[in-house]
Amino acid sequence: MERKYIIEGGRPLKGVIEISGAKNAVLPAIAATLLARGVYKLRKVPKVRDVFCMLKILEHLGASYKFQKKSLIIDTTNLKNFSVPYELASKIRASVLFMGPLAAIFKKGEVPLPGGCAIGKRPIDFHLKGLSQLGAKITLDHGNLVIRAKKLKGTEIVFDFPSVTATENLMMAAVLAEGETIIKNAAKEPEVVFLGKMLKKMGAKIEGLGKDTIYIKGKKELRPVEIEIIPDRIEAGTFLVLSALHRENDVIVKNVNKEYLKTPLLKLEEIGLKIKEIEKNTFKVERNKDLNPIKIVTAPYPGFPTDLQPQFAVLLTQAKGVSIIKENLFENRFLYVFELNRMGANIKVEERTAIINGPTLLAGSPVKATDLRAGAALVLAGLCAENTTVIYNVELIERGYENLVEKLKNLGAKILIEE
Ligand code: UD1
Repeated sequence: MERKYIIEGGRPLKGVIEISGAKNAVLPAIAATLLARGVYKLRKVPKVRDVFCMLKILEHLGASYKFQKKSLIIDTTNLKNFSVPYELASKIRASVLFMGPLAAIFKKGEVPLPGGCAIGKRPIDFHLKGLSQLGAKITLDHGNLVIRAKKLKGTEIVFDFPSVTATENLMMAAVLAEGETIIKNAAKEPEVVFLGKMLKKMGAKIEGLGKDTIYIKGKKELRPVEIEIIPDRIEAGTFLVLSALHRENDVIVKNVNKEYLKTPLLKLEEIGLKIKEIEKNTFKVERNKDLNPIKIVTAPYPGFPTDLQPQFAVLLTQAKGVSIIKENLFENRFLYVFELNRMGANIKVEERTAIINGPTLLAGSPVKATDLRAGAALVLAGLCAENTTVIYNVELIERGYENLVEKLKNLGAKILIEE
Protein backbone atom coordinates (compact mmCIF):
# COMPACT_ATOMS: atom_id res chain seq x y z
CA MET A 1 0.00 0.00 0.00
CA GLU A 2 1.07 3.55 -0.61
CA ARG A 3 2.60 5.36 2.34
CA LYS A 4 0.79 8.55 3.30
CA TYR A 5 0.72 11.29 5.92
CA ILE A 6 -2.59 12.25 7.50
CA ILE A 7 -2.49 15.74 8.94
CA GLU A 8 -5.07 17.46 11.16
CA GLY A 9 -4.44 21.08 10.26
CA GLY A 10 -4.95 24.41 11.94
CA ARG A 11 -3.26 23.64 15.27
CA PRO A 12 -0.77 26.20 16.57
CA LEU A 13 2.67 24.65 16.93
CA LYS A 14 5.07 25.29 19.76
CA GLY A 15 8.51 24.02 20.70
CA VAL A 16 12.06 23.52 19.52
CA ILE A 17 13.08 21.85 16.29
CA GLU A 18 16.67 20.93 15.48
CA ILE A 19 17.98 21.01 11.92
CA SER A 20 19.78 17.88 10.69
CA GLY A 21 22.93 17.58 8.59
CA ALA A 22 22.53 18.59 4.95
CA LYS A 23 21.45 15.85 2.56
CA ASN A 24 23.11 17.64 -0.35
CA ALA A 25 26.40 17.78 1.56
CA VAL A 26 26.46 14.17 2.68
CA LEU A 27 25.68 12.70 -0.77
CA PRO A 28 28.89 13.99 -2.44
CA ALA A 29 30.81 13.24 0.77
CA ILE A 30 29.77 9.59 0.46
CA ALA A 31 31.00 9.52 -3.16
CA ALA A 32 34.26 11.18 -2.09
CA THR A 33 35.08 8.29 0.24
CA LEU A 34 36.03 6.33 -2.90
CA LEU A 35 38.98 8.65 -3.47
CA ALA A 36 41.22 7.22 -0.72
CA ARG A 37 40.86 3.74 0.69
CA GLY A 38 40.37 3.47 4.44
CA VAL A 39 38.00 4.35 7.26
CA TYR A 40 36.02 7.61 7.29
CA LYS A 41 33.81 9.10 9.97
CA LEU A 42 31.08 11.50 8.86
CA ARG A 43 29.34 13.14 11.80
CA LYS A 44 25.76 14.49 11.92
CA VAL A 45 24.58 12.43 8.96
CA PRO A 46 20.81 12.64 8.30
CA LYS A 47 19.22 9.20 8.06
CA VAL A 48 17.17 9.87 4.94
CA ARG A 49 16.30 7.60 2.03
CA ASP A 50 18.76 9.24 -0.42
CA VAL A 51 21.64 8.66 2.01
CA PHE A 52 20.79 4.96 2.35
CA CYS A 53 20.52 4.67 -1.41
CA MET A 54 24.01 6.16 -1.90
CA LEU A 55 25.32 3.85 0.82
CA LYS A 56 23.86 0.81 -0.91
CA ILE A 57 25.70 1.81 -4.08
CA LEU A 58 28.91 2.21 -2.08
CA GLU A 59 28.36 -1.21 -0.56
CA HIS A 60 27.93 -2.68 -4.02
CA LEU A 61 31.30 -1.19 -4.98
CA GLY A 62 32.91 -3.12 -2.10
CA ALA A 63 32.77 -0.65 0.81
CA SER A 64 31.07 -1.28 4.16
CA TYR A 65 29.32 1.14 6.50
CA LYS A 66 27.67 1.34 9.88
CA PHE A 67 26.00 4.05 11.92
CA GLN A 68 27.17 4.92 15.42
CA LYS A 69 24.27 7.14 16.51
CA LYS A 70 24.51 10.14 14.12
CA SER A 71 27.99 9.27 12.88
CA LEU A 72 28.47 7.28 9.76
CA ILE A 73 31.53 5.06 9.57
CA ILE A 74 32.52 4.08 6.04
CA ASP A 75 35.30 1.64 5.21
CA THR A 76 36.46 1.74 1.58
CA THR A 77 39.54 -0.48 2.07
CA ASN A 78 38.17 -3.32 -0.03
CA LEU A 79 36.70 -1.52 -3.03
CA LYS A 80 36.47 -3.88 -5.95
CA ASN A 81 33.62 -2.99 -8.34
CA PHE A 82 33.47 -0.07 -10.72
CA SER A 83 29.91 -0.58 -11.86
CA VAL A 84 26.85 1.06 -10.28
CA PRO A 85 23.69 -1.11 -10.51
CA TYR A 86 20.68 0.25 -12.37
CA GLU A 87 18.16 -0.60 -9.59
CA LEU A 88 19.97 1.82 -7.24
CA ALA A 89 21.07 4.49 -9.73
CA SER A 90 17.55 4.81 -11.09
CA LYS A 91 16.34 5.81 -7.62
CA ILE A 92 18.69 8.71 -7.06
CA ARG A 93 20.07 11.44 -9.26
CA ALA A 94 23.11 11.90 -7.02
CA SER A 95 24.33 8.47 -8.21
CA VAL A 96 25.91 10.51 -11.02
CA LEU A 97 28.39 11.69 -8.35
CA PHE A 98 30.15 8.32 -8.53
CA MET A 99 31.37 9.06 -12.07
CA GLY A 100 34.17 11.44 -11.08
CA PRO A 101 35.59 9.29 -8.26
CA LEU A 102 35.38 6.05 -10.31
CA ALA A 103 37.19 7.69 -13.22
CA ALA A 104 39.82 9.00 -10.79
CA ILE A 105 40.55 5.76 -8.91
CA PHE A 106 39.83 2.92 -11.36
CA LYS A 107 40.19 4.86 -14.63
CA LYS A 108 36.97 3.13 -15.49
CA GLY A 109 33.38 3.08 -14.34
CA GLU A 110 29.88 2.14 -15.36
CA VAL A 111 27.10 4.38 -14.16
CA PRO A 112 23.51 4.16 -15.43
CA LEU A 113 21.86 7.38 -16.48
CA PRO A 114 20.50 8.71 -13.16
CA GLY A 115 16.97 8.81 -11.74
CA GLY A 116 15.70 11.20 -9.05
CA CYS A 117 12.97 13.81 -8.66
CA ALA A 118 11.00 14.51 -11.83
CA ILE A 119 11.41 18.29 -11.76
CA GLY A 120 12.65 18.73 -15.28
CA LYS A 121 14.90 17.40 -18.00
CA ARG A 122 18.00 17.61 -15.79
CA PRO A 123 20.65 16.76 -18.36
CA ILE A 124 24.18 15.74 -17.30
CA ASP A 125 26.04 17.08 -20.32
CA PHE A 126 28.29 19.32 -18.18
CA HIS A 127 29.45 16.29 -16.18
CA LEU A 128 30.19 14.31 -19.35
CA LYS A 129 31.90 17.15 -21.17
CA GLY A 130 34.07 17.98 -18.16
CA LEU A 131 35.13 14.39 -17.60
CA SER A 132 35.95 14.04 -21.31
CA GLN A 133 38.07 17.19 -21.11
CA LEU A 134 39.97 15.56 -18.25
CA GLY A 135 40.74 12.65 -20.58
CA ALA A 136 37.94 10.14 -19.97
CA LYS A 137 36.17 8.49 -22.86
CA ILE A 138 32.48 8.12 -22.15
CA THR A 139 30.05 6.10 -24.22
CA LEU A 140 26.42 5.21 -23.69
CA ASP A 141 25.82 1.48 -23.79
CA HIS A 142 22.25 0.24 -23.20
CA GLY A 143 21.48 3.06 -20.74
CA ASN A 144 24.84 2.71 -19.02
CA LEU A 145 27.49 5.41 -19.16
CA VAL A 146 30.73 3.57 -19.72
CA ILE A 147 33.82 5.52 -18.62
CA ARG A 148 37.32 4.58 -19.70
CA ALA A 149 40.51 6.62 -19.27
CA LYS A 150 44.22 5.96 -19.65
CA LYS A 151 44.82 8.75 -17.19
CA LEU A 152 43.13 11.96 -16.10
CA LYS A 153 44.96 15.14 -16.94
CA GLY A 154 44.20 18.61 -15.55
CA THR A 155 42.63 21.12 -17.92
CA GLU A 156 40.43 24.22 -18.02
CA ILE A 157 36.70 23.57 -17.76
CA VAL A 158 34.14 26.30 -18.31
CA PHE A 159 30.54 25.57 -17.36
CA ASP A 160 27.67 27.14 -19.29
CA PHE A 161 25.84 27.28 -15.96
CA PRO A 162 27.18 26.80 -12.40
CA SER A 163 25.86 23.26 -11.86
CA VAL A 164 26.14 21.96 -8.30
CA THR A 165 26.75 18.26 -8.87
CA ALA A 166 28.81 18.82 -12.05
CA THR A 167 31.17 21.07 -10.06
CA GLU A 168 31.34 18.41 -7.34
CA ASN A 169 31.92 15.57 -9.79
CA LEU A 170 34.72 17.36 -11.59
CA MET A 171 36.36 18.48 -8.36
CA MET A 172 36.45 14.82 -7.27
CA ALA A 173 37.95 13.73 -10.58
CA ALA A 174 40.48 16.58 -10.69
CA VAL A 175 41.96 16.09 -7.21
CA LEU A 176 43.65 12.90 -8.45
CA ALA A 177 44.31 14.06 -12.02
CA GLU A 178 47.78 14.94 -13.26
CA GLY A 179 48.51 18.70 -13.14
CA GLU A 180 46.20 21.67 -12.69
CA THR A 181 42.47 21.87 -13.34
CA ILE A 182 40.66 25.18 -13.47
CA ILE A 183 36.86 25.12 -13.18
CA LYS A 184 35.28 28.37 -14.37
CA ASN A 185 31.70 29.41 -13.64
CA ALA A 186 31.78 26.89 -10.77
CA ALA A 187 28.87 26.47 -8.36
CA LYS A 188 29.25 28.34 -5.05
CA GLU A 189 26.65 26.50 -2.95
CA PRO A 190 27.67 25.83 0.68
CA GLU A 191 27.50 22.07 -0.06
CA VAL A 192 30.07 22.49 -2.87
CA VAL A 193 32.33 24.44 -0.51
CA PHE A 194 31.84 21.73 2.13
CA LEU A 195 32.93 19.01 -0.31
CA GLY A 196 35.97 21.11 -1.25
CA LYS A 197 36.89 21.44 2.42
CA MET A 198 36.53 17.69 2.90
CA LEU A 199 38.78 17.05 -0.11
CA LYS A 200 41.32 19.53 1.26
CA LYS A 201 41.26 17.72 4.60
CA MET A 202 41.94 14.53 2.62
CA GLY A 203 45.09 16.21 1.28
CA ALA A 204 43.81 17.76 -1.96
CA LYS A 205 45.09 21.14 -3.17
CA ILE A 206 42.12 23.36 -3.95
CA GLU A 207 41.74 27.12 -4.09
CA GLY A 208 38.83 29.39 -4.90
CA LEU A 209 36.05 27.52 -3.07
CA GLY A 210 32.90 29.64 -2.95
CA LYS A 211 34.15 31.72 -5.88
CA ASP A 212 33.52 31.58 -9.63
CA THR A 213 36.84 29.92 -10.42
CA ILE A 214 38.21 26.89 -8.59
CA TYR A 215 41.86 25.87 -8.98
CA ILE A 216 42.86 22.27 -8.26
CA LYS A 217 46.37 20.81 -8.29
CA GLY A 218 46.14 17.03 -8.68
CA LYS A 219 47.73 14.82 -6.02
CA LYS A 220 49.02 11.23 -6.35
CA GLU A 221 46.99 10.08 -3.36
CA LEU A 222 44.67 11.28 -0.63
CA ARG A 223 43.82 10.03 2.87
CA PRO A 224 40.54 9.22 4.68
CA VAL A 225 39.14 11.79 7.11
CA GLU A 226 36.67 12.51 9.86
CA ILE A 227 34.34 15.44 9.16
CA GLU A 228 31.05 16.95 10.36
CA ILE A 229 28.27 17.55 7.86
CA ILE A 230 27.03 21.15 7.67
CA PRO A 231 23.42 21.95 8.69
CA ASP A 232 20.73 21.57 6.05
CA ARG A 233 19.82 25.08 4.87
CA ILE A 234 16.76 23.84 2.97
CA GLU A 235 15.36 22.03 6.01
CA ALA A 236 16.05 25.19 8.04
CA GLY A 237 14.23 27.34 5.48
CA THR A 238 11.30 24.90 5.47
CA PHE A 239 10.86 25.15 9.25
CA LEU A 240 11.27 28.93 9.28
CA VAL A 241 8.40 29.08 6.80
CA LEU A 242 6.42 26.70 8.99
CA SER A 243 6.84 28.97 11.99
CA ALA A 244 5.66 31.93 9.90
CA LEU A 245 2.54 30.20 8.63
CA HIS A 246 0.36 30.39 11.70
CA ARG A 247 0.04 33.58 13.73
CA GLU A 248 0.17 31.63 16.96
CA ASN A 249 3.06 29.36 16.05
CA ASP A 250 5.90 29.61 18.53
CA VAL A 251 8.64 27.53 16.96
CA ILE A 252 12.33 27.79 17.75
CA VAL A 253 14.62 26.51 15.01
CA LYS A 254 18.06 25.30 16.18
CA ASN A 255 21.27 24.58 14.31
CA VAL A 256 20.68 27.12 11.53
CA ASN A 257 23.64 28.65 9.70
CA LYS A 258 22.29 32.08 8.74
CA GLU A 259 25.22 32.67 6.35
CA TYR A 260 23.76 29.97 4.08
CA LEU A 261 20.29 31.51 4.15
CA LYS A 262 20.87 35.20 3.49
CA THR A 263 18.48 35.54 0.54
CA PRO A 264 15.60 33.49 2.04
CA LEU A 265 15.93 35.42 5.34
CA LEU A 266 15.75 38.73 3.47
CA LYS A 267 12.65 37.47 1.66
CA LEU A 268 11.00 36.50 4.97
CA GLU A 269 11.67 40.04 6.20
CA GLU A 270 10.24 41.49 3.00
CA ILE A 271 7.11 39.43 3.62
CA GLY A 272 6.83 41.28 6.93
CA LEU A 273 8.25 38.75 9.39
CA LYS A 274 10.77 39.44 12.12
CA ILE A 275 13.62 36.94 12.31
CA LYS A 276 15.25 36.88 15.72
CA GLU A 277 18.47 35.08 16.56
CA ILE A 278 17.64 34.26 20.17
CA GLU A 279 20.89 32.32 20.70
CA LYS A 280 23.78 31.54 18.40
CA ASN A 281 22.40 29.59 15.40
CA THR A 282 18.92 29.48 16.99
CA PHE A 283 16.12 31.43 15.35
CA LYS A 284 12.55 32.44 15.92
CA VAL A 285 10.16 34.01 13.44
CA GLU A 286 7.71 36.60 14.72
CA ARG A 287 4.58 37.47 12.81
CA ASN A 288 2.76 40.54 14.08
CA LYS A 289 1.00 41.85 11.01
CA ASP A 290 -0.46 40.85 7.66
CA LEU A 291 1.98 39.26 5.24
CA ASN A 292 3.15 41.27 2.22
CA PRO A 293 3.13 39.82 -1.29
CA ILE A 294 6.63 39.64 -2.80
CA LYS A 295 8.53 38.58 -5.91
CA ILE A 296 10.95 35.65 -5.82
CA VAL A 297 13.36 34.69 -8.59
CA THR A 298 15.27 31.42 -8.15
CA ALA A 299 18.96 31.46 -8.99
CA PRO A 300 22.18 29.62 -8.17
CA TYR A 301 23.66 30.40 -4.73
CA PRO A 302 23.75 33.01 -3.26
CA GLY A 303 20.46 33.64 -5.08
CA PHE A 304 17.12 32.31 -3.88
CA PRO A 305 17.27 28.48 -3.82
CA THR A 306 14.93 26.59 -6.12
CA ASP A 307 14.66 24.00 -3.34
CA LEU A 308 12.79 26.53 -1.17
CA GLN A 309 10.39 28.02 -3.72
CA PRO A 310 7.48 25.56 -3.14
CA GLN A 311 7.58 26.17 0.64
CA PHE A 312 7.62 29.95 0.11
CA ALA A 313 4.71 29.59 -2.32
CA VAL A 314 2.62 28.14 0.53
CA LEU A 315 3.53 31.11 2.72
CA LEU A 316 2.64 33.54 -0.08
CA THR A 317 -0.87 32.04 -0.35
CA GLN A 318 -1.34 33.74 3.03
CA ALA A 319 0.01 37.15 1.92
CA LYS A 320 -2.41 39.93 0.97
CA GLY A 321 -2.06 40.63 -2.76
CA VAL A 322 -0.28 39.21 -5.77
CA SER A 323 3.07 37.45 -5.39
CA ILE A 324 5.25 36.22 -8.22
CA ILE A 325 7.68 33.30 -8.27
CA LYS A 326 9.96 32.94 -11.29
CA GLU A 327 11.66 29.53 -11.49
CA ASN A 328 14.90 29.68 -13.42
CA LEU A 329 16.46 26.27 -12.74
CA PHE A 330 13.98 23.46 -13.35
CA GLU A 331 11.13 23.64 -15.83
CA ASN A 332 8.78 21.24 -13.98
CA ARG A 333 9.04 22.72 -10.53
CA PHE A 334 5.46 23.98 -10.37
CA LEU A 335 3.66 20.64 -10.37
CA TYR A 336 2.76 21.21 -6.71
CA VAL A 337 0.64 24.19 -7.73
CA PHE A 338 -2.18 21.93 -8.89
CA GLU A 339 -2.18 20.24 -5.50
CA LEU A 340 -2.14 23.55 -3.59
CA ASN A 341 -5.00 24.82 -5.75
CA ARG A 342 -6.98 21.71 -4.78
CA MET A 343 -6.58 22.94 -1.20
CA GLY A 344 -8.01 26.35 -2.13
CA ALA A 345 -4.93 28.30 -3.18
CA ASN A 346 -5.27 30.67 -6.11
CA ILE A 347 -2.10 30.19 -8.15
CA LYS A 348 -1.73 30.47 -11.90
CA VAL A 349 1.31 29.16 -13.74
CA GLU A 350 2.47 30.81 -16.94
CA GLU A 351 5.51 29.03 -18.29
CA ARG A 352 8.17 29.47 -15.63
CA THR A 353 6.23 31.94 -13.50
CA ALA A 354 3.70 31.32 -10.75
CA ILE A 355 1.29 34.10 -9.90
CA ILE A 356 -0.10 33.73 -6.41
CA ASN A 357 -3.23 35.60 -5.34
CA GLY A 358 -3.66 35.79 -1.62
CA PRO A 359 -4.73 35.45 1.01
CA THR A 360 -6.71 32.24 0.59
CA LEU A 361 -8.01 29.88 3.23
CA LEU A 362 -6.52 26.44 2.74
CA ALA A 363 -8.83 23.46 3.21
CA GLY A 364 -7.64 19.93 3.95
CA SER A 365 -7.73 17.66 0.87
CA PRO A 366 -6.15 14.53 -0.52
CA VAL A 367 -3.00 15.61 -2.36
CA LYS A 368 0.06 14.00 -3.87
CA ALA A 369 3.74 14.85 -3.40
CA THR A 370 5.22 15.35 -6.86
CA ASP A 371 8.82 15.76 -5.72
CA LEU A 372 10.77 16.11 -2.49
CA ARG A 373 10.38 19.86 -1.91
CA ALA A 374 6.87 19.95 -3.35
CA GLY A 375 5.99 17.29 -0.78
CA ALA A 376 7.44 19.41 2.03
CA ALA A 377 5.34 22.34 0.81
CA LEU A 378 2.19 20.20 1.01
CA VAL A 379 3.06 19.23 4.58
CA LEU A 380 3.31 22.94 5.44
CA ALA A 381 0.01 23.61 3.68
CA GLY A 382 -1.66 20.69 5.48
CA LEU A 383 -0.48 21.94 8.85
CA CYS A 384 -2.10 25.35 8.36
CA ALA A 385 -5.21 24.12 6.49
CA GLU A 386 -8.61 23.49 8.00
CA ASN A 387 -9.48 19.84 8.66
CA THR A 388 -7.67 16.80 7.33
CA THR A 389 -5.08 16.66 4.57
CA VAL A 390 -3.90 13.31 3.27
CA ILE A 391 -0.56 13.43 1.45
CA TYR A 392 0.23 10.52 -0.86
CA ASN A 393 3.64 9.55 -2.20
CA VAL A 394 5.48 10.66 0.94
CA GLU A 395 8.49 8.43 0.19
CA LEU A 396 9.60 11.39 -1.91
CA ILE A 397 9.57 13.66 1.16
CA GLU A 398 11.52 11.11 3.16
CA ARG A 399 14.31 11.22 0.58
CA GLY A 400 15.49 14.44 2.17
CA TYR A 401 13.79 15.24 5.49
CA GLU A 402 15.03 13.35 8.53
CA ASN A 403 12.37 12.29 11.06
CA LEU A 404 9.95 14.88 9.71
CA VAL A 405 6.88 13.38 11.33
CA GLU A 406 8.58 12.97 14.73
CA LYS A 407 9.91 16.52 14.61
CA LEU A 408 6.45 17.89 13.81
CA LYS A 409 4.75 15.79 16.48
CA ASN A 410 7.18 17.24 19.03
CA LEU A 411 5.77 20.66 18.13
CA GLY A 412 2.24 19.45 18.81
CA ALA A 413 1.23 18.66 15.23
CA LYS A 414 -1.36 15.94 14.69
CA ILE A 415 0.21 13.89 11.94
CA LEU A 416 0.03 10.17 11.31
CA ILE A 417 1.83 7.86 8.91
CA GLU A 418 -0.38 5.27 7.22
CA GLU A 419 0.99 2.46 5.09
C1 UD1 B 1 21.56 20.16 -7.03
C2 UD1 B 1 20.83 19.70 -5.79
C3 UD1 B 1 19.34 20.01 -5.92
C4 UD1 B 1 19.12 21.48 -6.27
C5 UD1 B 1 19.97 21.90 -7.47
C6 UD1 B 1 19.92 23.39 -7.74
C7 UD1 B 1 22.16 17.84 -4.99
C8 UD1 B 1 22.28 16.38 -4.81
N1 UD1 B 1 21.04 18.29 -5.61
O1 UD1 B 1 21.04 19.39 -8.11
O2 UD1 B 1 18.71 19.72 -4.68
O3 UD1 B 1 17.76 21.70 -6.59
O4 UD1 B 1 21.35 21.54 -7.24
O5 UD1 B 1 20.33 24.10 -6.63
O6 UD1 B 1 23.01 18.59 -4.58
N2 UD1 B 1 22.29 21.43 -16.02
C9 UD1 B 1 22.56 21.15 -17.34
N3 UD1 B 1 23.51 20.21 -17.63
C10 UD1 B 1 24.19 19.54 -16.65
C11 UD1 B 1 23.91 19.84 -15.30
C12 UD1 B 1 22.94 20.80 -15.01
O7 UD1 B 1 21.96 21.73 -18.25
O8 UD1 B 1 25.03 18.70 -16.96
C13 UD1 B 1 21.27 22.45 -15.69
C14 UD1 B 1 20.05 21.85 -14.97
O9 UD1 B 1 19.12 21.35 -15.87
C15 UD1 B 1 19.54 23.03 -14.18
C16 UD1 B 1 20.82 23.78 -13.82
O10 UD1 B 1 21.82 23.33 -14.72
O11 UD1 B 1 18.76 23.86 -14.98
C17 UD1 B 1 21.29 23.58 -12.40
O12 UD1 B 1 21.28 22.22 -12.07
P1 UD1 B 1 22.35 21.60 -11.08
O13 UD1 B 1 23.01 22.65 -10.27
O14 UD1 B 1 23.21 20.67 -11.86
O15 UD1 B 1 21.43 20.73 -10.13
P2 UD1 B 1 21.82 19.35 -9.51
O16 UD1 B 1 23.28 19.35 -9.25
O17 UD1 B 1 21.19 18.26 -10.28
